[in-house]
Amino acid sequence: MCGIVAFTGTSPTVPVLLNGLRRLEYRGYDSAGLALQTGDGSLEIIKRAGKVAELEQILEETGKAHTSADDSGTKPALGEKDTPGAANTPFSQATTGIGHTRWATHGVPSEANAHPQHDCSGSIAVVHNGIIENYAILRAELQGRGHRFVSQTDTEVVAHLIEEEYAAAHEDLVLAVRATVARLSGSFALAVCHASEPGLLVVTRNDSPLVVGKTKTGAIAASDTPALIEYTREVYYLDDRDLAVLHENGTLHFFDPAGSAIVPTPVTIEWDLEDAERGGYPDFMLKEIHEQPRVVKDTIAGRYSAATGRISFEELALSPRELKHIERVIIVACGTSYHAGLIGRDLMETWARLPVETAVASEFRYRNPLVTPKTLVIAISQSGETADTLEAVKLARLAGAHVLAITNVVGSRITREANTVLYIKAHLEIAVAATKSFLAQVALLTLFALYLAQERGQLESGAVGEVYAAMEQLPRQIAGVLEDTASIISCASECGNAQTALFIGRGVGATICYEGALKLKEISYVHAEAFAAGEIKHGPIALINPEGLTDPQVQTPVVAMACKSATYDKMLSNIEEVLARGAKVIAVATAGDTRIAELTGHVIFIPEVPECLSPLVASVPLQLFARHIALMHGANVDQPRNLAKSVTVE
Ligand code: F6R
Repeated sequence: MCGIVAFTGTSPTVPVLLNGLRRLEYRGYDSAGLALQTGDGSLEIIKRAGKVAELEQILEETGKAHTSADDSGTKPALGEKDTPGAANTPFSQATTGIGHTRWATHGVPSEANAHPQHDCSGSIAVVHNGIIENYAILRAELQGRGHRFVSQTDTEVVAHLIEEEYAAAHEDLVLAVRATVARLSGSFALAVCHASEPGLLVVTRNDSPLVVGKTKTGAIAASDTPALIEYTREVYYLDDRDLAVLHENGTLHFFDPAGSAIVPTPVTIEWDLEDAERGGYPDFMLKEIHEQPRVVKDTIAGRYSAATGRISFEELALSPRELKHIERVIIVACGTSYHAGLIGRDLMETWARLPVETAVASEFRYRNPLVTPKTLVIAISQSGETADTLEAVKLARLAGAHVLAITNVVGSRITREANTVLYIKAHLEIAVAATKSFLAQVALLTLFALYLAQERGQLESGAVGEVYAAMEQLPRQIAGVLEDTASIISCASECGNAQTALFIGRGVGATICYEGALKLKEISYVHAEAFAAGEIKHGPIALINPEGLTDPQVQTPVVAMACKSATYDKMLSNIEEVLARGAKVIAVATAGDTRIAELTGHVIFIPEVPECLSPLVASVPLQLFARHIALMHGANVDQPRNLAKSVTVE
């Protein structure tokens, strides 16, 4: 969704802001803009509907661009006066500014609605992520007091409120922002600069992420770490409604909402710049798919001791006694994380013999769910910022449940709301479509299900060790799938013209299908639906075009999970049923299976793994299948239309 970058220092800010905005592009957005202190007590704002590249082009054409993003510490020639913010500083040489990528909520994507937004005088510029829920009341009040609005955004009220508070606070920007924040409800991350406060930026947040750090030549803030990883690996996360003040000499001051100075603990970003680069791959999605052997290996590493035959989760804030007394588990999540939760549910029920439910987070809190202090709520979120999941977490906490968060992002909101946090080791995931984070979530949930069973005395250590030993083979097996993609590409090519595709499977195979269909529809825009294979005869089989019986060109593709499993024979019957009605069956099957090859010529073979671990291998060809079809349609696989990487609104 929206992205914020703010920089003040002794080096030009344009390259730092543009570089940061480019790094945030993966989150999804529709317009972009910058506001810079250009001296003589004024700000210059340049913004556009469209991509960061279009903004860059305008800057190039108007001579406002600065080509190097180097934060080397060399002070640039600033023209006549080399004081940052001094009179007549050219835009390209300005050293304090804020930048934004907007994902429209209030008002269409347009230049007027793009951020930065400004006050009546044009002296105050604001960029904002989130939604100001009381903006309509505030706007009416401000208009009543004579403020002129030029956009439809909720954000603009912030600029006008700061304008009033700045006057009331005798031109103290920090006080003005604090007083403004006290009047806002909703979610926000804000970065503010004032024409008359050279070299100073004020940032704050509530229910929306923001990180701050020092660089070699100044101070930087951003809504997400990829925007600042090039300049610092040590960052500070703000708590709700805390304020950070960034000075051009790199000094950072932090304040709580009451105005008392605070000293937050710095957090070191664990992943590298390499994670934010494509590294020779044509797109991030392919790169991230190929990282999966490493991701699964890292996620399971160190969790099992061969000496004791036990799995450990030392970070879990639940004693073995408390674990034994859990009566029920509820997993809450959205999208792909929800699919990981479905797999976790089956494993926990099977091994730990506990009732487990997986709920779509956006529905959970509206149905008056049964949550008690004896419920363990597991909230899964790659980003840790998904509003629907966070609301479910809040409800669970209020009901007294222990909330265990599974996330990929250190310092994300979910890590602050939950009682316990378990991190997957996916590292930064840039492509909007979740791939490596899904496998990491499933790997972690598999281990956690084993752990729960072990602690509740439902699984012997021998059985735990056996599953773990099979898990250790997974990185090699996933790598095997990635090395030989010819059948995946050829099956995808067979489906290039299809308007719709069905996915069918049984047991865990059905869940793999839900995820496979989601991948296909979100990146290729081909309609795809997944069903439990036993259900198709109850309705969905009507979707198969009977003309496919005589014309292969119009056959409805049906992707069938047909790996060796307890329901293999039944699955073959379901495949026969759809073939008999003219479907083109693409089967994912276990290497060496000859029966399947008698039914269809389109088979993707994968290595044999125990059924309980099959999602960790069988999901991989479906990711590649979806990607290939998307590429055939000319789609941007990393940034599919209408989607955002972190969905921070409900
Ligand atoms: C699909 C996808 C989304 C996310 C969903 C939840 O590829 O990425 O469906 O899984 O928006 O996001 P997180 O896991 O960040 O809570």
